[in-house]
Amino acid sequence: MQKKTIRDIDVTGKKVFVRVDFNVPFNEAGQITDDTRIRAALPTVEDLIGRGARVILASHLGRPKGRVVDDMRLKPVADRLAELLGSTVIYADDCIGPRAEEAASALNDGDVLLLENLRFHADEEKNDPSFSAQLAALADIYVNDAFGTAHRAHASTEGITHHLPSVAGLLMEKELQALGELLTSPSRPFACVFGGAKVSDKVGMIRNMLQRVDIVLVGGGLAATFLKARGLDVGESLVETEMLEEARAIMAESERSGVPVVLPIDVLVAQQVKPGVRARVVQSTNVPAGSGIVDIGPKSIEHYFSKLESCKTVMWNGPMGVYEIPQFSMGTRCLINYIAATDARSVIGGGSSVDAVQEMGLADLVTHVSTGGGATLELLERGTLPGVEALEDL
Ligand code: 3PG
Repeated sequence: MQKKTIRDIDVTGKKVFVRVDFNVPFNEAGQITDDTRIRAALPTVEDLIGRGARVILASHLGRPKGRVVDDMRLKPVADRLAELLGSTVIYADDCIGPRAEEAASALNDGDVLLLENLRFHADEEKNDPSFSAQLAALADIYVNDAFGTAHRAHASTEGITHHLPSVAGLLMEKELQALGELLTSPSRPFACVFGGAKVSDKVGMIRNMLQRVDIVLVGGGLAATFLKARGLDVGESLVETEMLEEARAIMAESERSGVPVVLPIDVLVAQQVKPGVRARVVQSTNVPAGSGIVDIGPKSIEHYFSKLESCKTVMWNGPMGVYEIPQFSMGTRCLINYIAATDARSVIGGGSSVDAVQEMGLADLVTHVSTGGGATLELLERGTLPGVEALEDL
Protein backbone atom coordinates (compact mmCIF):
# COMPACT_ATOMS: atom_id res chain seq x y z
CA MET A 1 0.00 0.00 0.00
CA GLN A 2 2.56 2.53 -1.11
CA LYS A 3 0.39 5.56 -1.75
CA LYS A 4 1.30 9.13 -2.66
CA THR A 5 0.90 11.57 0.21
CA ILE A 6 0.65 15.33 0.50
CA ARG A 7 4.46 15.32 0.68
CA ASP A 8 4.58 14.21 -2.96
CA ILE A 9 2.56 17.09 -4.41
CA ASP A 10 2.71 20.84 -4.81
CA VAL A 11 -0.21 22.46 -3.00
CA THR A 12 0.71 26.15 -2.93
CA GLY A 13 -2.21 28.31 -4.02
CA LYS A 14 -4.27 25.19 -4.78
CA LYS A 15 -7.70 24.39 -3.40
CA VAL A 16 -7.24 21.12 -1.54
CA PHE A 17 -10.31 19.07 -0.55
CA VAL A 18 -9.36 17.10 2.58
CA ARG A 19 -11.67 14.30 3.71
CA VAL A 20 -11.25 14.08 7.48
CA ASP A 21 -13.04 11.94 10.05
CA PHE A 22 -14.47 14.44 12.53
CA ASN A 23 -17.08 11.91 13.69
CA VAL A 24 -16.50 12.81 17.36
CA PRO A 25 -18.68 12.07 20.40
CA PHE A 26 -20.91 14.77 21.95
CA ASN A 27 -22.62 14.94 25.35
CA GLU A 28 -26.27 15.91 25.82
CA ALA A 29 -25.31 19.58 26.20
CA GLY A 30 -23.86 19.50 22.66
CA GLN A 31 -20.23 19.60 23.81
CA ILE A 32 -17.50 17.50 22.23
CA THR A 33 -16.39 14.91 24.80
CA ASP A 34 -13.33 13.59 22.95
CA ASP A 35 -11.51 15.63 20.30
CA THR A 36 -8.86 13.00 19.49
CA ARG A 37 -9.95 12.75 15.87
CA ILE A 38 -9.78 16.52 15.40
CA ARG A 39 -6.30 16.66 16.94
CA ALA A 40 -5.22 13.72 14.80
CA ALA A 41 -5.96 15.71 11.62
CA LEU A 42 -3.85 18.71 12.72
CA PRO A 43 -0.53 17.60 11.18
CA THR A 44 -2.12 17.45 7.71
CA VAL A 45 -4.09 20.67 8.10
CA GLU A 46 -1.09 22.56 9.50
CA ASP A 47 1.22 21.23 6.79
CA LEU A 48 -1.19 22.38 4.07
CA ILE A 49 -1.68 25.80 5.68
CA GLY A 50 2.09 26.18 6.03
CA ARG A 51 2.55 25.50 2.32
CA GLY A 52 -0.07 28.07 1.30
CA ALA A 53 -2.86 25.70 0.26
CA ARG A 54 -6.51 26.73 0.41
CA VAL A 55 -7.82 24.00 2.68
CA ILE A 56 -11.38 22.68 2.30
CA LEU A 57 -12.22 20.16 5.03
CA ALA A 58 -15.17 17.76 4.78
CA SER A 59 -16.47 15.12 7.19
CA HIS A 60 -19.51 13.18 8.25
CA LEU A 61 -20.87 13.27 11.79
CA GLY A 62 -23.18 10.51 13.00
CA ARG A 63 -25.74 8.83 10.76
CA PRO A 64 -28.31 11.49 9.78
CA LYS A 65 -29.46 9.33 6.83
CA GLY A 66 -29.67 12.07 4.21
CA ARG A 67 -31.55 14.62 6.34
CA VAL A 68 -30.41 17.85 7.97
CA VAL A 69 -30.23 17.13 11.71
CA ASP A 70 -29.32 20.20 13.76
CA ASP A 71 -27.59 18.17 16.47
CA MET A 72 -25.26 16.75 13.82
CA ARG A 73 -24.05 20.05 12.39
CA LEU A 74 -20.30 20.51 12.25
CA LYS A 75 -20.26 24.08 13.63
CA PRO A 76 -19.01 23.01 17.12
CA VAL A 77 -16.25 21.04 15.37
CA ALA A 78 -15.26 24.14 13.37
CA ASP A 79 -15.04 26.07 16.65
CA ARG A 80 -12.89 23.41 18.32
CA LEU A 81 -10.63 23.18 15.28
CA ALA A 82 -10.19 26.98 15.31
CA GLU A 83 -9.17 26.78 18.99
CA LEU A 84 -6.65 24.04 18.26
CA LEU A 85 -5.21 25.78 15.21
CA GLY A 86 -5.23 29.19 16.91
CA SER A 87 -6.70 30.72 13.75
CA THR A 88 -10.02 31.26 12.00
CA VAL A 89 -11.92 28.35 10.49
CA ILE A 90 -14.54 29.41 7.96
CA TYR A 91 -17.72 27.32 8.14
CA ALA A 92 -20.18 26.72 5.30
CA ASP A 93 -23.58 25.32 6.23
CA ASP A 94 -23.70 22.96 3.25
CA CYS A 95 -21.09 20.80 1.52
CA ILE A 96 -22.28 21.39 -2.08
CA GLY A 97 -24.31 24.10 -3.81
CA PRO A 98 -23.94 27.90 -3.86
CA ARG A 99 -22.93 28.39 -0.20
CA ALA A 100 -20.12 25.84 -0.38
CA GLU A 101 -19.01 27.09 -3.82
CA GLU A 102 -18.90 30.74 -2.74
CA ALA A 103 -16.98 29.92 0.43
CA ALA A 104 -14.48 27.76 -1.47
CA SER A 105 -13.83 30.31 -4.20
CA ALA A 106 -13.36 33.15 -1.67
CA LEU A 107 -10.50 31.31 0.07
CA ASN A 108 -7.02 32.86 0.20
CA ASP A 109 -3.77 30.92 0.48
CA GLY A 110 -3.53 29.39 3.97
CA ASP A 111 -7.27 29.73 4.75
CA VAL A 112 -9.27 26.82 6.19
CA LEU A 113 -12.91 26.10 5.39
CA LEU A 114 -15.00 23.36 7.03
CA LEU A 115 -18.00 22.19 5.02
CA GLU A 116 -21.25 20.97 6.59
CA ASN A 117 -21.90 17.28 7.37
CA LEU A 118 -21.59 15.28 4.14
CA ARG A 119 -24.26 12.82 5.24
CA PHE A 120 -26.98 15.49 5.21
CA HIS A 121 -27.09 14.38 1.55
CA ALA A 122 -28.15 10.76 0.99
CA ASP A 123 -25.99 10.75 -2.15
CA GLU A 124 -22.83 10.71 -0.02
CA GLU A 125 -23.40 7.15 1.22
CA LYS A 126 -24.80 6.07 -2.18
CA ASN A 127 -21.51 7.17 -3.75
CA ASP A 128 -23.60 9.03 -6.32
CA PRO A 129 -21.40 10.13 -9.27
CA SER A 130 -23.01 13.56 -9.69
CA PHE A 131 -22.63 14.26 -5.95
CA SER A 132 -18.93 13.32 -6.05
CA ALA A 133 -18.52 15.53 -9.13
CA GLN A 134 -20.03 18.46 -7.20
CA LEU A 135 -17.66 17.90 -4.27
CA ALA A 136 -14.71 17.62 -6.65
CA ALA A 137 -15.68 20.85 -8.44
CA LEU A 138 -14.83 22.75 -5.25
CA ALA A 139 -11.13 21.88 -5.44
CA ASP A 140 -7.99 21.11 -7.47
CA ILE A 141 -6.60 18.26 -5.36
CA TYR A 142 -8.12 15.56 -3.12
CA VAL A 143 -6.55 14.34 0.12
CA ASN A 144 -7.94 11.47 2.18
CA ASP A 145 -6.96 11.80 5.83
CA ALA A 146 -10.10 10.05 7.14
CA PHE A 147 -8.62 6.70 8.11
CA GLY A 148 -11.66 6.01 10.34
CA THR A 149 -13.97 6.17 7.28
CA ALA A 150 -11.68 4.54 4.70
CA HIS A 151 -13.66 1.26 4.91
CA ARG A 152 -16.63 3.09 3.35
CA ALA A 153 -16.75 3.51 -0.45
CA HIS A 154 -18.71 6.77 -0.30
CA ALA A 155 -18.73 9.83 -2.59
CA SER A 156 -16.22 11.71 -0.44
CA THR A 157 -13.90 8.72 0.06
CA GLU A 158 -14.07 6.92 -3.30
CA GLY A 159 -16.24 8.66 -5.92
CA ILE A 160 -14.34 11.95 -5.70
CA THR A 161 -11.04 10.24 -6.53
CA HIS A 162 -12.29 9.72 -10.11
CA HIS A 163 -12.22 13.49 -10.63
CA LEU A 164 -9.09 14.83 -8.90
CA PRO A 165 -5.45 13.92 -8.26
CA SER A 166 -5.85 11.96 -5.02
CA VAL A 167 -3.30 11.40 -2.26
CA ALA A 168 -3.15 10.38 1.40
CA GLY A 169 -2.88 12.76 4.36
CA LEU A 170 -0.37 12.35 7.15
CA LEU A 171 -2.77 10.64 9.58
CA MET A 172 -3.76 8.16 6.89
CA GLU A 173 -0.08 7.51 6.22
CA LYS A 174 0.68 7.01 9.92
CA GLU A 175 -2.25 4.60 10.43
CA LEU A 176 -1.35 2.56 7.34
CA GLN A 177 2.26 2.34 8.43
CA ALA A 178 1.47 1.26 12.01
CA LEU A 179 -1.27 -1.22 11.16
CA GLY A 180 0.37 -2.36 7.90
CA GLU A 181 3.48 -3.30 9.85
CA LEU A 182 1.37 -5.68 11.98
CA LEU A 183 0.34 -7.44 8.78
CA THR A 184 3.70 -7.56 7.07
CA SER A 185 6.69 -7.22 9.38
CA PRO A 186 5.89 -7.27 13.13
CA SER A 187 8.76 -7.72 15.60
CA ARG A 188 8.34 -11.21 17.05
CA PRO A 189 7.01 -12.77 19.17
CA PHE A 190 3.77 -11.01 18.21
CA ALA A 191 0.63 -11.31 20.38
CA CYS A 192 -2.93 -10.23 19.66
CA VAL A 193 -5.35 -9.70 22.54
CA PHE A 194 -8.96 -9.78 21.38
CA GLY A 195 -11.96 -8.81 23.49
CA GLY A 196 -15.20 -6.91 23.09
CA ALA A 197 -18.75 -8.05 22.86
CA LYS A 198 -19.15 -9.92 19.62
CA VAL A 199 -17.33 -12.64 17.71
CA SER A 200 -19.33 -11.74 14.58
CA ASP A 201 -17.72 -8.26 14.37
CA LYS A 202 -14.23 -9.66 14.67
CA VAL A 203 -14.18 -13.12 13.18
CA GLY A 204 -12.61 -11.97 9.89
CA MET A 205 -9.86 -10.09 11.69
CA ILE A 206 -9.18 -12.97 14.10
CA ARG A 207 -8.93 -15.47 11.24
CA ASN A 208 -6.53 -13.27 9.27
CA MET A 209 -4.37 -12.35 12.26
CA LEU A 210 -4.17 -15.98 13.42
CA GLN A 211 -1.99 -16.62 10.35
CA ARG A 212 0.37 -13.80 11.29
CA VAL A 213 0.78 -13.91 15.07
CA ASP A 214 2.54 -16.15 17.58
CA ILE A 215 -0.22 -16.18 20.18
CA VAL A 216 -3.83 -14.99 20.59
CA LEU A 217 -5.34 -14.14 23.98
CA VAL A 218 -9.13 -13.89 24.27
CA GLY A 219 -11.28 -11.95 26.76
CA GLY A 220 -14.56 -10.03 26.93
CA GLY A 221 -17.83 -11.31 25.49
CA LEU A 222 -15.78 -13.12 22.87
CA ALA A 223 -14.40 -15.42 25.56
CA ALA A 224 -17.88 -16.68 26.52
CA THR A 225 -18.57 -17.80 22.94
CA PHE A 226 -15.16 -19.50 22.71
CA LEU A 227 -15.57 -21.22 26.10
CA LYS A 228 -19.01 -22.45 25.09
CA ALA A 229 -17.58 -23.67 21.75
CA ARG A 230 -15.06 -25.66 23.79
CA GLY A 231 -17.99 -27.40 25.48
CA LEU A 232 -18.08 -25.48 28.79
CA ASP A 233 -21.25 -24.27 30.47
CA VAL A 234 -21.16 -20.46 30.57
CA GLY A 235 -24.45 -19.89 32.43
CA GLU A 236 -26.24 -16.72 31.38
CA SER A 237 -23.23 -15.21 29.54
CA LEU A 238 -24.00 -13.58 26.23
CA VAL A 239 -23.15 -16.20 23.64
CA GLU A 240 -23.47 -15.79 19.88
CA THR A 241 -24.88 -19.21 19.09
CA GLU A 242 -24.53 -18.67 15.34
CA MET A 243 -20.80 -18.05 15.87
CA LEU A 244 -20.05 -21.28 17.75
CA GLU A 245 -19.02 -23.05 14.55
CA GLU A 246 -16.71 -20.16 13.62
CA ALA A 247 -15.15 -20.24 17.08
CA ARG A 248 -14.59 -24.01 16.74
CA ALA A 249 -13.04 -23.49 13.30
CA ILE A 250 -10.66 -20.86 14.74
CA MET A 251 -9.62 -23.24 17.54
CA ALA A 252 -9.13 -26.07 15.05
CA GLU A 253 -6.95 -23.77 12.94
CA SER A 254 -4.99 -22.90 16.08
CA GLU A 255 -4.39 -26.64 16.71
CA ARG A 256 -3.24 -27.15 13.13
CA SER A 257 -0.94 -24.14 13.00
CA GLY A 258 0.37 -24.42 16.55
CA VAL A 259 -0.55 -20.77 17.29
CA PRO A 260 -2.23 -20.93 20.71
CA VAL A 261 -5.64 -19.30 21.24
CA VAL A 262 -5.64 -18.79 25.01
CA LEU A 263 -8.94 -18.53 26.89
CA PRO A 264 -9.46 -17.24 30.46
CA ILE A 265 -8.83 -19.80 33.21
CA ASP A 266 -10.97 -17.87 35.68
CA VAL A 267 -13.69 -15.27 35.24
CA LEU A 268 -15.74 -12.76 37.21
CA VAL A 269 -19.42 -13.64 37.19
CA ALA A 270 -22.56 -11.75 38.26
CA GLN A 271 -26.27 -12.41 38.13
CA GLN A 272 -26.97 -9.07 36.48
CA VAL A 273 -24.91 -6.69 34.37
CA LYS A 274 -25.44 -3.52 36.40
CA PRO A 275 -23.50 -1.51 39.00
CA GLY A 276 -23.63 -2.57 42.62
CA VAL A 277 -24.50 -6.24 42.12
CA ARG A 278 -22.57 -9.00 43.88
CA ALA A 279 -19.84 -10.49 41.69
CA ARG A 280 -17.42 -13.34 42.34
CA VAL A 281 -14.48 -15.06 40.73
CA VAL A 282 -14.92 -18.67 39.57
CA GLN A 283 -12.94 -21.10 37.42
CA SER A 284 -13.98 -20.89 33.76
CA THR A 285 -15.01 -24.54 34.06
CA ASN A 286 -17.35 -23.63 36.88
CA VAL A 287 -19.63 -20.76 35.82
CA PRO A 288 -22.78 -21.20 37.92
CA ALA A 289 -26.24 -21.42 36.37
CA GLY A 290 -28.00 -18.04 36.57
CA SER A 291 -24.75 -16.01 36.36
CA GLY A 292 -22.90 -14.55 33.39
CA ILE A 293 -19.27 -13.66 32.74
CA VAL A 294 -18.57 -9.93 33.19
CA ASP A 295 -14.73 -9.84 33.24
CA ILE A 296 -11.67 -12.06 33.16
CA GLY A 297 -10.42 -13.16 36.57
CA PRO A 298 -7.13 -12.42 38.45
CA LYS A 299 -5.48 -15.74 37.50
CA SER A 300 -6.26 -15.10 33.84
CA ILE A 301 -4.75 -11.62 34.12
CA GLU A 302 -1.53 -13.10 35.56
CA HIS A 303 -1.54 -15.87 32.99
CA TYR A 304 -1.98 -13.39 30.09
CA PHE A 305 0.82 -11.18 31.41
CA SER A 306 3.15 -14.19 31.57
CA LYS A 307 2.33 -14.93 27.91
CA LEU A 308 2.92 -11.30 26.89
CA GLU A 309 6.21 -10.99 28.76
CA SER A 310 8.47 -12.16 25.94
CA CYS A 311 6.47 -10.47 23.15
CA LYS A 312 8.00 -7.69 21.08
CA THR A 313 4.69 -6.62 19.51
CA VAL A 314 1.31 -6.52 21.25
CA MET A 315 -1.90 -5.57 19.45
CA TRP A 316 -5.05 -5.15 21.52
CA ASN A 317 -8.64 -4.78 20.35
CA GLY A 318 -11.71 -4.96 22.61
CA PRO A 319 -12.26 -4.74 26.38
CA MET A 320 -11.73 -7.78 28.62
CA GLY A 321 -15.06 -7.26 30.40
CA VAL A 322 -17.95 -4.83 30.82
CA TYR A 323 -15.44 -2.10 31.59
CA GLU A 324 -18.00 0.75 31.58
CA ILE A 325 -19.09 -0.62 35.00
CA PRO A 326 -16.08 0.03 37.30
CA GLN A 327 -16.67 -3.22 39.24
CA PHE A 328 -16.21 -5.21 36.02
CA SER A 329 -13.29 -3.21 34.60
CA MET A 330 -10.32 -4.82 36.38
CA GLY A 331 -9.23 -7.04 33.46
CA THR A 332 -9.33 -4.17 30.98
CA ARG A 333 -7.57 -1.74 33.34
CA CYS A 334 -4.80 -4.19 34.20
CA LEU A 335 -4.25 -4.92 30.51
CA ILE A 336 -4.05 -1.21 29.69
CA ASN A 337 -1.54 -0.67 32.51
CA TYR A 338 0.50 -3.55 31.15
CA ILE A 339 0.41 -2.24 27.57
CA ALA A 340 1.37 1.26 28.75
CA ALA A 341 4.36 -0.11 30.68
CA THR A 342 5.68 -2.69 28.22
CA ASP A 343 8.80 -2.06 26.12
CA ALA A 344 7.14 -4.00 23.29
CA ARG A 345 5.70 -2.17 20.31
CA SER A 346 2.06 -1.67 21.32
CA VAL A 347 -0.89 -0.98 19.06
CA ILE A 348 -4.45 -0.37 20.21
CA GLY A 349 -6.84 -1.13 17.41
CA GLY A 350 -9.68 1.33 17.68
CA GLY A 351 -13.22 1.43 19.09
CA SER A 352 -13.97 1.14 22.79
CA SER A 353 -10.41 -0.01 23.63
CA VAL A 354 -9.34 3.49 22.63
CA ASP A 355 -12.01 5.10 24.84
CA ALA A 356 -10.75 3.02 27.77
CA VAL A 357 -7.07 3.96 27.29
CA GLN A 358 -7.96 7.65 26.85
CA GLU A 359 -10.08 7.56 29.97
CA MET A 360 -7.12 6.19 31.93
CA GLY A 361 -4.91 8.94 30.48
CA LEU A 362 -2.35 6.41 29.20
CA ALA A 363 -2.72 6.81 25.40
CA ASP A 364 0.62 8.65 25.15
CA LEU A 365 2.42 5.58 26.48
CA VAL A 366 1.15 3.35 23.68
CA THR A 367 3.16 3.14 20.42
CA HIS A 368 0.08 3.61 18.23
CA VAL A 369 -3.57 4.23 19.13
CA SER A 370 -5.69 3.91 16.00
CA THR A 371 -8.39 6.48 15.23
CA GLY A 372 -10.35 3.82 13.33
CA GLY A 373 -13.04 1.48 14.64
CA GLY A 374 -14.57 -0.50 11.77
CA ALA A 375 -11.73 0.66 9.49
CA THR A 376 -9.11 -0.93 11.74
CA LEU A 377 -10.99 -4.23 11.91
CA GLU A 378 -11.44 -4.28 8.15
CA LEU A 379 -7.82 -3.39 7.42
CA LEU A 380 -6.61 -6.17 9.72
CA GLU A 381 -9.05 -8.55 8.08
CA ARG A 382 -8.47 -7.74 4.40
CA GLY A 383 -5.17 -5.88 4.32
CA THR A 384 -6.67 -2.98 2.39
CA LEU A 385 -9.57 -0.51 2.39
CA PRO A 386 -11.63 1.00 -0.48
CA GLY A 387 -10.74 4.57 0.50
CA VAL A 388 -7.05 3.68 0.38
CA GLU A 389 -7.15 1.67 -2.84
CA ALA A 390 -8.69 4.68 -4.60
CA LEU A 391 -5.60 6.84 -3.92
CA GLU A 392 -2.69 7.19 -6.33
CA ASP A 393 0.16 4.71 -6.02
CA LEU A 394 3.60 6.03 -5.27
C1 3PG B 1 -16.43 5.58 12.79
O1 3PG B 1 -16.73 6.29 13.76
O2 3PG B 1 -16.14 4.37 12.90
C2 3PG B 1 -16.30 6.24 11.45
O3 3PG B 1 -16.44 7.60 11.53
C3 3PG B 1 -17.27 5.64 10.45
O4 3PG B 1 -18.58 5.91 10.83
P1 3PG B 1 -19.78 5.02 10.25
O5 3PG B 1 -19.67 3.66 10.88
O6 3PG B 1 -21.03 5.75 10.62
O7 3PG B 1 -19.59 4.92 8.76
